[in-house]
Amino acid sequence: MTTVVYSSDEEINPVTMLQLDGNDDDAKENNDKKPELVPTSVQHQTYRLNSINSTVVIRQLPSQGLSFQLWPAATTFVKLLDSYQPSNTDSFSAAVTNVKIRPPLRILELGSGTGVVGIAASAILGADVTVTDLPHVLPNLVFNADANSSVVAPRGGQVHVAALSWGKLEEMETIGRDYDLIIGSDVVYHDHLYDPLIQTLKYLLLGGGDGNGEKVFLMAHLRRWKKESGFFKKAKKHFKVELVHEDGPSDASRTGVVVYRFARKDAVFR
Ligand SMILES: C[S@@+](CC[C@H](N)C(=O)[O-])C[C@H]1O[C@@H](n2cnc3c(N)ncnc32)[C@H](O)[C@@H]1O
Repeated sequence: MTTVVYSSDEEINPVTMLQLDGNDDDAKENNDKKPELVPTSVQHQTYRLNSINSTVVIRQLPSQGLSFQLWPAATTFVKLLDSYQPSNTDSFSAAVTNVKIRPPLRILELGSGTGVVGIAASAILGADVTVTDLPHVLPNLVFNADANSSVVAPRGGQVHVAALSWGKLEEMETIGRDYDLIIGSDVVYHDHLYDPLIQTLKYLLLGGGDGNGEKVFLMAHLRRWKKESGFFKKAKKHFKVELVHEDGPSDASRTGVVVYRFARKDAVFR
């Protein structure tokens, strides 16, 4: 189902859009916030979740900027979660199964955007999920969390919405580290965000002393620029980074979405 209330002037291709120009990033202090009365396009995307025989519906507001759209890595992450079974032996499933769970499973999502991955994870895994993003993104996240609560709640899930601007210590401390699994999709793109994201991951995965040994960050990523290797080079100084899934190339992109697991360097997985 796709409902377009006002059509946007610009064609937005989520595969290539982030390649255009680093300056159009709405994460940069919200500069692209449209003044009121500018028509806002509203689109609803339905995701069928076969594992729970249900659907989630996600509202996108494409004219509001990149935080309000669905991105290819999110779709891959949702598909992988939907086909997850504890008995599966593929690397992605093993990475989820390896998470040390004290029920209910507590998940923190970074840079959630529309929230589709966190909401789907909560519904599929019956998890307590905190979806996070920059403050101006939160109203749409709340909308999507509320819109899907009737799918999530009967399965024992809960979705909380919170501000988490990468690298902001105060917000990191408010969010805390009490999560079993950290997730993210399409969060590596502009290079000014590499260091704040790594700082946040260090806080979540390496801080806090005991009990963090097996904490992992599962990140779905669509490679767009060569410079992204700079992020992985920095990340590998602090974390063990392993590939746990690779999509084949698609019509829209020569490279497919990949999923990485980040963990402490000394982490040992079964
Ligand atoms: C390309 S979008 C991906 C959104 C969503 N994860 C998805 O895959 O559909 C990147 C997301 O990272 C968020 N982001 C960018 N800079 C951030 C920062 N400094 N702190 C927290 N989130 C940030 C953006 O607001 C946006 O929602």
